[in-house]
Amino acid sequence: MNAVREWLKRASSVAILTGAGVSAESGVPTFRGNNGLWRQRRAEDLATPDAFARDPQLVWEWYNWRRAVLAEAKPNPGHYALAELEKRSSNFTLITQNVDGLHELAGSDNVLRLHGSIWRVRCLECGQERFDRRIPFPEIPPKCECGGMLRPGVVWFGEALPQDVWLAAEKAARSADLFLVVGTSAVVYPAAGLAQIAKSSGARVVEINIAETQLSDQIDEFLQGPSGELLPQLIA
Ligand code: OAD
Repeated sequence: MNAVREWLKRASSVAILTGAGVSAESGVPTFRGNNGLWRQRRAEDLATPDAFARDPQLVWEWYNWRRAVLAEAKPNPGHYALAELEKRSSNFTLITQNVDGLHELAGSDNVLRLHGSIWRVRCLECGQERFDRRIPFPEIPPKCECGGMLRPGVVWFGEALPQDVWLAAEKAARSADLFLVVGTSAVVYPAAGLAQIAKSSGARVVEINIAETQLSDQIDEFLQGPSGELLPQLIA
């Protein structure tokens, strides 16, 4: 921990990648592991264009449930520590795979959302995308004013990431002196590849997770523990 604190102090450019684990202490279920299942289904079986085409009702019920859980969730000390770090740093990029909006609620200003937002919807007919916090929706699947079916404003497996967001994330990983990977199983690409990009561009890479991942033995330091405890310690 002390070495990482020193690196953080000396870094002129810091980039962070977060995953579902950073929100776990806010009561938000992660995707993988035993708590990750919803009605015995895995995220990979629900978060796909095929699953939505086959059964939009089922996929929307899952998102509706997640939106209801998230509406009650509050940022935890890990989210607040990252928001504080942004304020203190001149060159700081927060990249998240999370769609929950908790970083923004904690006060992080510039969040690169690789996988979109669960609080946005997009019409399959007219293409309009907008913010939508209705819980529950009056009907499932919800409809646009034009009559078309809405879909969640998130990125599904097999879909491309928003190009501008990805390019900004890649640039931040390339130019970072310190790259911190927090609460992600690091198995979903291209997001997981950002740590390798940072490493091969010369950054120190540090991981915070309650359990080892495939990244853990390829990086400079693995800090084991809950991010809601370790992140505040790191910036203290
Ligand atoms: P996962 O559910 O795959 O991984 C969560 C990670 O957080 C695991 O490595 C846990 O060990 C760790 N973890 C759990 N609690 C923690 C805590 N309190 N502190 C620190 N770490 C903790 O979630 P992601 O890696 O975010 O994509 O999943 C990546 C993507 O797969 C998601 O964005 C989503 C999902 O399916 C799409 O929907 C496209």
